[in-house]
Amino acid sequence: MDSIVVTGGNALSGQIPIAGAKNACLALMPATLLTEEPLTLMNAPRLSDIKTMTALLQSLGAEVQSLQEGRVIAMSSLGPISTTADYDIVRKMRASNLVLGPLLAREGHAIVSLPGGCAIGARPMDIHTTALEAMGAEIELRDGYLHATAPGGLKGAKIAFRFASVGATENIMMAATLAKGTTVIENAAREPEIVDLAACLAKMGAQIDGAGSSTITIQGVDRLGGATHAVVTDRIELGTYMLAPAICGGEVECIGGRLDLVQSFAEKLDAAGIAVEETAAGLKVARKNGRTSAIDVSTQPFPGFPTDLQAQMMALMCTADGVSHLEETIFENRFMHAPELLRMGADVEVHGGTATVTGVERLKGAPVMATDLRASVSLILAGLAAEGDTVVNRVYHLDRGYEHVEEKLRAVGAKIERVPGA
Ligand code: EPZ
Repeated sequence: MDSIVVTGGNALSGQIPIAGAKNACLALMPATLLTEEPLTLMNAPRLSDIKTMTALLQSLGAEVQSLQEGRVIAMSSLGPISTTADYDIVRKMRASNLVLGPLLAREGHAIVSLPGGCAIGARPMDIHTTALEAMGAEIELRDGYLHATAPGGLKGAKIAFRFASVGATENIMMAATLAKGTTVIENAAREPEIVDLAACLAKMGAQIDGAGSSTITIQGVDRLGGATHAVVTDRIELGTYMLAPAICGGEVECIGGRLDLVQSFAEKLDAAGIAVEETAAGLKVARKNGRTSAIDVSTQPFPGFPTDLQAQMMALMCTADGVSHLEETIFENRFMHAPELLRMGADVEVHGGTATVTGVERLKGAPVMATDLRASVSLILAGLAAEGDTVVNRVYHLDRGYEHVEEKLRAVGAKIERVPGA
């Protein structure tokens, strides 16, 4: 397994290109199952998760081609389409569950393995299944697989989510595009990835209103056509790289960055003493003056502070002036980066869903272990400011969500190398 070695202390300067959003692309790709016509995605990120989704769709019988070094994904699902999503693929990536809605809508049945828990939590699928049952599906859990059928086809329904689940919003929105009648989702997720999926489905002929708000209305149609769609910018990669100059000084321009995608995050950076400036090409980020200030953060569904940037913000708070409180309200176990940061001399105390961070002058490089995607990159960020070398092991977690992280950071002056593993 590869590792990444970061030698801290360099201030950064230059431009970092921001890729298309992993979490938008992973929802857009299963939409190919909703039509027999070609669906082409531009600005796709080059990530191992995209390869996993490609393998899953191919295992179902879809044709998926990666063009222009992975930037373009050309898909078509002429059929016949298998409706069994195998555990071997699904266990690698929870987002595989996003084929459930499209398969039910297209074929009237689906057998999808439950993803199983992952490092950050149990991540059940009750919100997905309750909603699909309201639309007429019959779903049974057997041998770790969801066996779903919609004998008479899916019907539009009025659905109220108990929690604004991103994946459930995506699954139900896709299923509802071909259902008979109108579906209304109350308490829908409002993430930009939902808006991006709705925009692509509309290009395919779907009738969707309200994406980006808490109430989404979908009028079912008989069939969908093909489309070409550019994946929205990755707001989590953007926020991650905005933190790099915040942590180790200097100034970085994130090319393609959009302030509307990271508004609440940028407000927290401003409160911590980090200047964020919109430019013609993206977002320019630099410390306003000296040491950052400790601030409090509570993760919330969009447009609140993103849970996917909590670990990275903790890395910044480790050397901030004062005490900060980071409350994680979305997942039950998303502080696995804390013990690793402690190894670097951070002062972090976790009690239940809140981490209390007392800033120290400087962290010290150390060998640390990546545990999940966002925890991994928070260790890289901490290493940028630490004294000496930080060796981040198990970086396959990183490659799931970040394109060539060492190349992007080295290009702005970081001392960072990937060391091929045994
Ligand atoms: C998406 O996961 C993202 N993944 C996650 O990003 C992100 O952290 C999450 O949304 C929250 O923003 C993709 O888009 C591929 P949820 P998802 O359904 O859809 C509970 C990353 O690092 N829940 O909004 O799985 C669930 O357990 C990843 O890129 C139920 O209880 O998230 C969790 O505690 C990590 N029952 C909370 O809701 C359900 O049926 C949020 O889950 C569904 C969810």
